[in-house]
Amino acid sequence: MLRNKRILLVISGGIAAYKSLELIRLLRERGASVRCVMTEAACEFVTPLSVSALSEDKAYCDLFSLTDESEMGHIRLSREADLLVVAPATANILAKMAGGTCDDLASTVLLATDKDVLAAPAMNVRMWTHPATTANVSRLRNHGVRFAGPTEGPMACGEFGEGRMAEPDQIVAEIERYFGRSGLLAGRQAIVTSGPTHEAIDPVRYIANRSSGKQGHAIAAAISQCGADTLLVTGPSLEPDPAGVKVVHIESAREMHDACVAHLPVDVAVCAAAVADWRPAHDQPQKIKKTSGNPLSQLELTENPDILAAIAGAGEKRPKLVIGFAAETEDIVAHATEKLARKGCDWMLANDVSCGTDTFGGDFNEIHLVSKNGVENWPAMSKSGVADQLASRICNALSPGQDAAE
Ligand code: CTP
Repeated sequence: MLRNKRILLVISGGIAAYKSLELIRLLRERGASVRCVMTEAACEFVTPLSVSALSEDKAYCDLFSLTDESEMGHIRLSREADLLVVAPATANILAKMAGGTCDDLASTVLLATDKDVLAAPAMNVRMWTHPATTANVSRLRNHGVRFAGPTEGPMACGEFGEGRMAEPDQIVAEIERYFGRSGLLAGRQAIVTSGPTHEAIDPVRYIANRSSGKQGHAIAAAISQCGADTLLVTGPSLEPDPAGVKVVHIESAREMHDACVAHLPVDVAVCAAAVADWRPAHDQPQKIKKTSGNPLSQLELTENPDILAAIAGAGEKRPKLVIGFAAETEDIVAHATEKLARKGCDWMLANDVSCGTDTFGGDFNEIHLVSKNGVENWPAMSKSGVADQLASRICNALSPGQDAAE
């Protein structure tokens, strides 16, 4: 399963470092090559000699080693890998990764890489639940870092709680899951829309909505992680650009429409943007003054193009799979079914915004997948969970021999 995969294992300084030796062994047993970078603190817990013997490679420890840099510079080290794994990932290295600090070889390699990173945190329960660590982990997730564990249990320090490093076989399972999915959309092209749109009333005012872009950005990241060449067309959002995804930033619905249509044909399109349905009918090059007789009390609006319908109706350029979202407060499935037909798409992900779920800007979503085959109810889950689930469904639908819309 991991044959010919190149893992760069970053070992930072925690007591769980002894488990990294087993991790190296398990990875090599599955056919992966493992190259190890150790922090200075890691060398206090396990020796470079053991790491080197198990990986059958040099253990890289020093950023300023003349011989290491001439044989294998830190940039090459970070690029000549298919995945970077940080195990154990201490609170300190997570803080450095979140802040972009690079003051040793391990943190420099992590900042310099263009590959995905999987971290297996290991620390005392208080350190894990400290707001600083929580914020760092959330920031790293936004940067696309994946996590294995931590788990709950007795700790080396005598306390009990969450913060134990996942067992080596669990980390291996996570790595296998990563690679198992990673090639499934290779060679495929995808468009994802995300965020709100801003419709200018004049140069300083606009019409907008509360969409945060979290769901659309997570979907773009998940599809890209499956290997698809992914374009994210997003309205103004505070979400960072997902790693590995091409991003076009737009403001208005018309700009979003033009960017999407110009990028067709693709294999799959997911329209997760909360597009403003209406825009002011007339362009206003100058700020509208209050003294000009309160003209905004009669703002004339005109309908925006429907991007989802345009993509679904693109004839020869229509993607094999066109997916929309429907935020509904009542008769969720009935409204989503009507929208599915009206917009001509294949799947409609209806989200229930009736029961006080803080969907706009929140982290959770409850989805009903409506297609011509009926309705599938997904349990409430995080927006990244929804993105992963949707990406897996897209992988299945686009696999050879499948009718994409089934
Ligand atoms: N959509 C779009 N372009 C628009 C309006 C909506 O691409 N101009 C897409 C959204 O990205 C979403 C789907 O259409 O995938 C449904 O959006 P929604 O706002 O729920 O539907 P509307 O057609 O606007 O219907 P209504 O607001 O009346 O519920």
